[in-house]
Amino acid sequence: MKFSDSIEPNVSPEIIALSKKIKAQGIPTVLPITLNELLLTLSIKQPLSILEIGTAVGLSGSAMLLTCKNAHLTTIEKDEDSFNQAKNTFESFGLSDKVKQFLGDAGDIIRFLDTQYDFIFLDGAKARYFDYLSDLKRLLKPNGVLFADNVLFRGYIDGGIKFNHRDNTIVRNMRAFLSDFINDKNYICTIHEKGDGILVAYKK
Ligand SMILES: C[S@@+](CC[C@H](N)C(=O)[O-])C[C@H]1O[C@@H](n2cnc3c(N)ncnc32)[C@H](O)[C@@H]1O
Repeated sequence: MKFSDSIEPNVSPEIIALSKKIKAQGIPTVLPITLNELLLTLSIKQPLSILEIGTAVGLSGSAMLLTCKNAHLTTIEKDEDSFNQAKNTFESFGLSDKVKQFLGDAGDIIRFLDTQYDFIFLDGAKARYFDYLSDLKRLLKPNGVLFADNVLFRGYIDGGIKFNHRDNTIVRNMRAFLSDFINDKNYICTIHEKGDGILVAYKK
């Protein structure tokens, strides 16, 4: 066993219990190794404002707010049932006052957001990341950090793994998304080959 494989996120027992419950129900949520990387990045950055795309049932949102005690979270989810479950999750952690939840399509909602954020966690539909580009860049403050999950999508993006033609759109859009950030001189980027691949982009 490598040390790097044995790292577990340093989160409260309540978050671990919720994570197990979610996993058992087959609800999508961030992988433990990705959650660890996310919370590490947040601990260094200590943002006051966080935007999340893809709330699901509120696991990553709660973990982020419990890590950044002074932060507020704006989070977007299109599935009504998940949106309602997330509401209960935030309430159960006593975080409701720090959360603004939006129900609807992220592409439609971010277009109308007009405040900038210190940190953006992008964890919604992978095929849409490229569509969000200009709004993500507009909504990130200078010195802000974008943390995007699933950017290497099952190794299809640059791992040389063959993919089915139905994933063509995701692969094409994700490559365009990564290429744009990597070549943008206003950003310092890294891609972690962990979990499903993580882009961390710092806006100068
Ligand atoms: C991987 S899950 C998010 C997991 C969550 N961040 C966590 O770790 O607990 C992705 C979520 O994005 C939502 N989603 C997908 N497409 C969306 C869209 N266009 N607008 C808003 N939410 C979307 C899905 O319903 C799903 O709940």
